[in-house]
Amino acid sequence: MLPTVAWQDDAVVMIDQRKLPTAEVYVTCRTAAEVARAIKSMVIRGAPAIGVAAAMGLALGMRRSKATGTAKFAAEFQKTCELLAATRPTAVNLFWAIDRMKARFGAMVQAGASVGEIQRGLEAEACAIHDEDVAACRAIGEHGGALLADGARVLTHCNAGALATAGYGTALGVIRGAIGQGKRIAVYADETRPFLQGARLTAWELLHDGIDTTVITDNMAATLMAQHLIDVVVVGADRIAANGDVANKVGTYGVAVLAREHGIPFYVAAPTSTIDLGTPDGTGIPIEERDPREVTHVGPTRVTPERAKIRNPAFDVTPNRYVTAIVTERGVVRGPYGESLRGLLA
Ligand code: MRU
Repeated sequence: MLPTVAWQDDAVVMIDQRKLPTAEVYVTCRTAAEVARAIKSMVIRGAPAIGVAAAMGLALGMRRSKATGTAKFAAEFQKTCELLAATRPTAVNLFWAIDRMKARFGAMVQAGASVGEIQRGLEAEACAIHDEDVAACRAIGEHGGALLADGARVLTHCNAGALATAGYGTALGVIRGAIGQGKRIAVYADETRPFLQGARLTAWELLHDGIDTTVITDNMAATLMAQHLIDVVVVGADRIAANGDVANKVGTYGVAVLAREHGIPFYVAAPTSTIDLGTPDGTGIPIEERDPREVTHVGPTRVTPERAKIRNPAFDVTPNRYVTAIVTERGVVRGPYGESLRGLLA
């Protein structure tokens, strides 16, 4: 399996996703601040992977603490949680993972654990979050794989693969699951402007696994659908609101509308850690606005006039009515999502 993020001795090691596919370089983070920087600058990205990295960053930060008493240690823990929570706003997995680490911390303090015991407990919790994410992706692959027909041509957007998770992937997990079930699958990968997660990362990891992959620019999806070259769309998610509205990489909404127009099923694959029952609908999901440079430049080259105004919302929200089904590790749910998602998490 492809390495995304790992706890190694007293460091968090991650493959530098800014450099793929031209260079396979690993970044070693030795402090929580380094992990926070890595998340913010997209060394690591993808909703579940960000959550795992943040949990490991917290464990790492607290392992470095010089505090001897739990009061000072708790104050440092709170600050480190805030540091990691401030990295990226949209993927709810980040906050889910931090909350889970807080719960473990609180339970250990309550039980009278020493600083050393808490440090070891946080490390164990972060590693559990990592391992559970891989298991969730494999289960998503099993459930979602069953939805794809033999010979299916699948369109995906962004990278919801091994690189976006602790391993195996969500949308790409569905593709891997279907192939594991003996089906022949061909993938069309949207390039995903401006950060090119599809062209660089999805293509790289699918080819690594020998999966039939064709990269298209984002504006080609409509014509391919009109030519009956796409049978099904499978994407990941950064946050699923209680009513089933889905925030994912900008461009996903357009693909969903096109899929509806062409009568193509539109599936969202995500672990239950991506479901946010605390946000009633998509209007409440914070959308990250990223550096204009991602739009003005392709690599080192400026492609827009100096004085052009720029917008760079990194995500959009697909209304629930376009979502054929949501595939999670606990099974496949369909609308009305208010009921089905609540039932899934009950
Ligand atoms: O900005 P990114 O690359 O972190 O955005 C990632 C996406 O939008 C993915 O599609 C989503 O996180 C699903 S990852 C399994």
